[in-house]
Amino acid sequence: MKKQRIIGMFDSGVGGLTVMKEILERLFDVRIVYFGDTARVPYGNRSREELIRFGEEIVTFLIGQGAEVIVVACNTSSATALPVLRDRFDVPMIGMVEPGARLSVEKTIAGRIGLIATETTVRSKAYSSAVSRALAKGCLPEDSALREAWQHGEQPITLIKAQGCPLFVPLIEAGLANSAEARGIARTYLNPLRAAGVDTLILGCTHYPFLEPVLREILGEDVLIVDPALAVVKELEGLLKHLDEWERSGLIGSPSSALTKKPWRARYYVSGDPELFKQVGNTLLQEPIGHVEQIILGE
Ligand code: SIN
Repeated sequence: MKKQRIIGMFDSGVGGLTVMKEILERLFDVRIVYFGDTARVPYGNRSREELIRFGEEIVTFLIGQGAEVIVVACNTSSATALPVLRDRFDVPMIGMVEPGARLSVEKTIAGRIGLIATETTVRSKAYSSAVSRALAKGCLPEDSALREAWQHGEQPITLIKAQGCPLFVPLIEAGLANSAEARGIARTYLNPLRAAGVDTLILGCTHYPFLEPVLREILGEDVLIVDPALAVVKELEGLLKHLDEWERSGLIGSPSSALTKKPWRARYYVSGDPELFKQVGNTLLQEPIGHVEQIILGE
């Protein structure tokens, strides 16, 4: 029987659960160890140095739990700390930004891409650079008219507007994703994007898919909402195939059996209150997430 690989994932809180859900629904040969850094949420206004230190502590913990691949299920960490984490650890890592940028290029129909994210992600300009890199590497829109116009230099494909949304993460972590407050704040954040005429909107924070119904209500059907999680699943699938090939050719060892004896699909660890995480996670995912354990890091 094929052994299941263990994927370590982390986010500042419940946001990464949106990515975890997509992975568990689509990839059956994996188990997930999830870490939510709820004692230090939000990450959105943390310095790069702090985000690197938090990332190092968490990745060390996840590798100790048997993780063979790390999914940095937090855009703020992906936009700032990921390149350093990749240098410091041997395990392969997937972030949110590159897959999200590629997906937005593929899906846009007018080339007018918008982004909502934390202030740190917006300031990093990681998404606009990733959109340019995706195009430079040959990623093209699926829409044939736009593809041709872009290839003939008639229509640019760019990230035209990035909007920082500092209040979204605290609202979601407090279980208020579907509240009147969330609606009011979302309207204020989305107005400049609507005024800029974006046709495609990247959800540049893993918490934001929990707000999708509210965002859709405000944006109507004309704007395509892109959740990078779907592209992350695709990238993870490709990486797992490579790992299987490398294992068959003896380049790497096989998955650890010690941690895969008992049947489980996901384990949850948090740095803050496990009960609060469970309660908010259950409500947001609309299914019970099971046992959550508290782990104190960085002391
Ligand atoms: C945050 O905790 O403020 C951000 C999480 C993310 O960027 O995905």
